[in-house]
Amino acid sequence: MKTEIVKIDSEQIDETEIKKAGEIIKKGGLVAFPTETVYGLGGDALQADSSRKIYAAKGRPSDNPLIVHIAEFDDLKKIVKEIPKEAKLLADAFWPGPLTLILNKNERVPYETTGGMDTVAVRMPSHPVALAFIRAGGGFIAGPSANTSGKPSPTLAEHVALDLDGKIPMIIDGGEVGIGIESTIVDLTEEVPMILRPGYITPEMIEQVIGTVKIDPGIIASDSGEKPKAPGMKYKHYAPKADLTLVDGEPEKVIAKINELTEELTAQGRKVGIIATNETEECYKTGEVLSIGARDDEDAIARHLYRILREFDDMDVEKIYSESFATPRIGQAIMNRLLKAAGHQVIHV
Ligand code: TXA
Ligand code: MG
Repeated sequence: MKTEIVKIDSEQIDETEIKKAGEIIKKGGLVAFPTETVYGLGGDALQADSSRKIYAAKGRPSDNPLIVHIAEFDDLKKIVKEIPKEAKLLADAFWPGPLTLILNKNERVPYETTGGMDTVAVRMPSHPVALAFIRAGGGFIAGPSANTSGKPSPTLAEHVALDLDGKIPMIIDGGEVGIGIESTIVDLTEEVPMILRPGYITPEMIEQVIGTVKIDPGIIASDSGEKPKAPGMKYKHYAPKADLTLVDGEPEKVIAKINELTEELTAQGRKVGIIATNETEECYKTGEVLSIGARDDEDAIARHLYRILREFDDMDVEKIYSESFATPRIGQAIMNRLLKAAGHQVIHV
């Protein structure tokens, strides 16, 4: 299949191209599209066959449910059993935006879309191109991240093309995404709402709107023995080709340790990558150094993380060492992605 890559400008949306994308969706085809978090791989969420195609294109296990993207709050009631008051409050506060709500699905949503679950994940993205595309495609777009399963999520259309070229008819190129890590997921089917995946919307922001929330214990520790409630969180995800290890501690000690480890491997003739910051990139003597951004600019760190993991793939490094980034607001979400990419290998210094 030939994949057409179509540039669409958020400021001036090309209605003809959006309509073309919508037609592909309505006929049961797939289109990759930009959102404010990461690129999504869209199909009609209400057609079982479209969801099957999504799993096939991504190579994703079919027990891992998809997020349904909507463009109007009023469409929510068409796919869920009931709308709890917390859903209305959170939607008022954060939609359109990087928040996904888990609710009880109704019979219109096929089990193929929800990986066999009786619940459905729903999100209204804020990206203008995403909203126009969802409307053109009939209002309910199933959209996992548009990467091959196990790869870092795409933050550029080029990443989507690398993973899905030849497998889908169309990729909408809306430039680099704004946030760079996937949406926060909150399960509202529990007695106490529970965060299943940390993201740009923090637990504190959610608690200000609906009161106490729990955090799924399965997403915090690697060895808690708890199974994460979001099926996708159990996989070693976001993985670069090279083996990744985080080094955590006082900045000077982290730099010294990474220098020592990198020199050892380089002396053996192995190619090593280092994830540094603007403040530290000059401190490394050997290895391929990429800066993720300024240490106190957590938005930049989130936005650049997946791109850097992919750049190291292109450079064919065998080993990556990364500084750790426990930034105050979205640090938990950033570290969650990095720890998963590292398979929880951390050196404390
Ligand atoms: O920011 C995002 O959420 C991006 C953009 C494209 O919207 N989408 C995304 O989708 O990250 P995906 O499929 O890569 O991740 C969806 C996560 C998976 O971990 C999945 O297991 C979980 O959501 N999930 C989906 N439906 C669920 C459900 N009914 N119950 C529990 N977890 C669910
Ligand atoms: Mg994903």
